[in-house]
Amino acid sequence: MSDPSYQYLNPPYRILLGPGPSNISPRVQQAMLAPMVGHLDPYFFNIMDDTVKLLRTLFQTENRLTFPISGTGSAGMEAGLCNFLEPGDVAVIGVNGLFGERMVDNALRCGAEVIQVTAEWGRIVEPETIEAALKAQKRVKLLALVHAETSTGILQPLTEASQLAKQYEALLLVDTVTSLGGEEVAVDDWGIDICYSGTQKCISCPPGLAPFTANQKAMEAVEARTRKVQSWYLDLSLLSSYWSEGRFYHHTAPICMIYALHEALVLIAEEGLEARWQRHLRHGSALKAGIEAMGLTLHAQEGHRLSTLTSVRIPSGVDDLRVRQKLLNEFGIEIGGGLGPLKGRIWRIGLMGHSSTGENVLLFLSALEEVLAAESYPVEPGAGVKAAIQTLTKKAETK
Ligand SMILES: Cc1ncc(COP(=O)(O)O)c(C=O)c1O
Repeated sequence: MSDPSYQYLNPPYRILLGPGPSNISPRVQQAMLAPMVGHLDPYFFNIMDDTVKLLRTLFQTENRLTFPISGTGSAGMEAGLCNFLEPGDVAVIGVNGLFGERMVDNALRCGAEVIQVTAEWGRIVEPETIEAALKAQKRVKLLALVHAETSTGILQPLTEASQLAKQYEALLLVDTVTSLGGEEVAVDDWGIDICYSGTQKCISCPPGLAPFTANQKAMEAVEARTRKVQSWYLDLSLLSSYWSEGRFYHHTAPICMIYALHEALVLIAEEGLEARWQRHLRHGSALKAGIEAMGLTLHAQEGHRLSTLTSVRIPSGVDDLRVRQKLLNEFGIEIGGGLGPLKGRIWRIGLMGHSSTGENVLLFLSALEEVLAAESYPVEPGAGVKAAIQTLTKKAETK
């Protein structure tokens, strides 16, 4: 007899083309089914060591402190701020979307004084405004920027910001939640002191871990703190004693999630970083070409658009929710809507990790054409797909 008070788990198969999570490889799914071992088992220690090595390669860093934090990307963000900021510290934070705003909220909760360097949602934070903010303060402890602003589709340039952080002796913290594994991230070469990400986007692993890295200079700032980090769970000194040779118990590591991350990182190593960025670029460019050929407008500032997430302005007269629901219900495709001031104004289409395929680009453009036609939006039949195919069949290009 069936019990009406619960149901059996039977999730639908979705093509995940939203702002995350992305689809995962069957190999990552399989990894989560591997036998459970204890978090202090010598076998698990080997997997931890391997995961750290693979993460260093992905972040392109030699940083000793490199490991996944148990928790989603927001845990990475919180760890990136609460370990380095104390009451009285000054932080300059770039805000051109929702995740810059979230960083501000976190920094304020640490008791820091926050100087926001703002830009319109859909434009980069200009280096000149960053410099003006740094110059106006006696001492800035931390400069924080979002590399890939998922709420707008902007890829923030970091070269000048990194030089400025050095010049003004501030630590540089970068959020790479929507870039790591899909866009180039070179922590050491780019002079990034603290960097975090999330597993569920371009790494194509389920949500639940936040890859994290910090260099020696950053860790010296932690040692020089005058008071304890207010978060016990995210205290990097405590976490690193489990992730280093001592293996001191801190909390029970999410074993199956680390299996999954390990497998996702092996897949990245097999593909190669350069090939992976090129794949994301090729599919992101094909999507953009298709979107524009359909007469739609891209939202993010030209020259600074992410490969991993494309923001598209919703044409007037077209119903945002109806379109997204039709894509989901009739085609099994998930895309994202706008957030904050962009709610109802843009769609956000992700092509991240395992979801970044030529087939998904073509399927999505065909489905969108169908759905827009039902909204009486005039599209030349096949124009989007044709433009995308032309881009997909062009030789690999560079950004
Ligand atoms: C740029 C950025 N930072 C931080 C986060 C927070 O990550 P999570 O939702 O995994 O906590 C997200 C999530 O979308 C993000 O896109």
